[in-house]
Amino acid sequence: MTTTVPVTKGFPIHAGTKILGIETSCDETAASVVIGGHVVRSSVVSSQVDIHARFGGVVPEIASRAHVDLLTPVIAEALVEAGLDGSELDAVAATCGPGLVGALLVGVSTAKALALVWDVPFVAVNHLEAHLYAALVEDPSLELPLVVLLVSGGHTMLISMEGHGQYRLLGSTIDDAAGEAFDKVGRYLGLGYPGGPAIDRIAMEGDPHAIAFPRAMYNDGLDFSFSGLKTAVINHVRKHPESATADVAASFQEAVVDVLVTKARRAAQQIGAKGLVLGGGVAANSLLRERFLSACVEDGVHGFLPSRAMCTDNAAMVAAAAWWRLGADGPSPLDHGADPNLKLPLLS
Ligand code: KG4
Ligand code: ZN
Repeated sequence: MTTTVPVTKGFPIHAGTKILGIETSCDETAASVVIGGHVVRSSVVSSQVDIHARFGGVVPEIASRAHVDLLTPVIAEALVEAGLDGSELDAVAATCGPGLVGALLVGVSTAKALALVWDVPFVAVNHLEAHLYAALVEDPSLELPLVVLLVSGGHTMLISMEGHGQYRLLGSTIDDAAGEAFDKVGRYLGLGYPGGPAIDRIAMEGDPHAIAFPRAMYNDGLDFSFSGLKTAVINHVRKHPESATADVAASFQEAVVDVLVTKARRAAQQIGAKGLVLGGGVAANSLLRERFLSACVEDGVHGFLPSRAMCTDNAAMVAAAAWWRLGADGPSPLDHGADPNLKLPLLS
């Protein structure tokens, strides 16, 4: 991948183009300055996890209000860390969807206002596309086509990235997202919110083979299903309340990771991918990271694991995706809204 793209339409971007990215789609308030699509000069993330934990999940209205309070200081910190004044930026980008509409609007409105004040382009960024760019920020040498296993709280997708902005959906969940399954099982096991990191921790003390949980659609294509697994965990705990929570968590995690890795390597084989990468919050999972890398080594595919901070919601991935989007499509209009159900643009 080259970092300077010959631009035929859109906006002239280059290796020195400095973009401020803003992320407020869910419960992380984040801002970051990225130069040339991959040089991260600053990345500040203020998590609201503690605010929402006592409710057992994200409360949309509280999230919006917290973004209003946190965003200005987070942006200020990102600029100070980058050693830049706002007027030195070339564009301001924000996630415009999918996500919680009130939360998204805080980031989008702020980005537009700053773009107006600094007289630079505003770029609306698709949150899913931003997750796809997380790996490319940290390893710009990755070659396309790339298979991305995107596993977050709201999505579980296998995507073939054939070019910049050119995506094909290879598979997705037909019910719950992987992160949603982690969160629901975590809550059922009394591990609090978010369930993913809690299950990851407690599973280290459990036996992953203690309970043979089902692997839905295992031999069947590239789609996923996790809702039966969640029900199987609940049924097991009801029938065997004496089971150690660590064993249940480890066996559940083993089932999820087994399916995710099996399907990701099948997808890479199917399209002859040059690389296989992870994205989304669940990509922070320790077992998934370990199994994913071993599978890539075994299959002779270039595997890359973005750092945990780059996998979970952050604004560096937003600024990176914005660099490519600005070059390809030019600035977004200032009447661009927020779309809670925004889809990833796919090749037909
Ligand atoms: O990408 P993300 O930060 O936000 C969304 O866009 O959804 O993903 C959040 C999801 C949550 O479901 C959380 O439980 C899960 O990522 N997660 C994990 C881990 N860390 C975060 N799941 C499993 N293991 C982890 N270590
Ligand atoms: Zn996300």
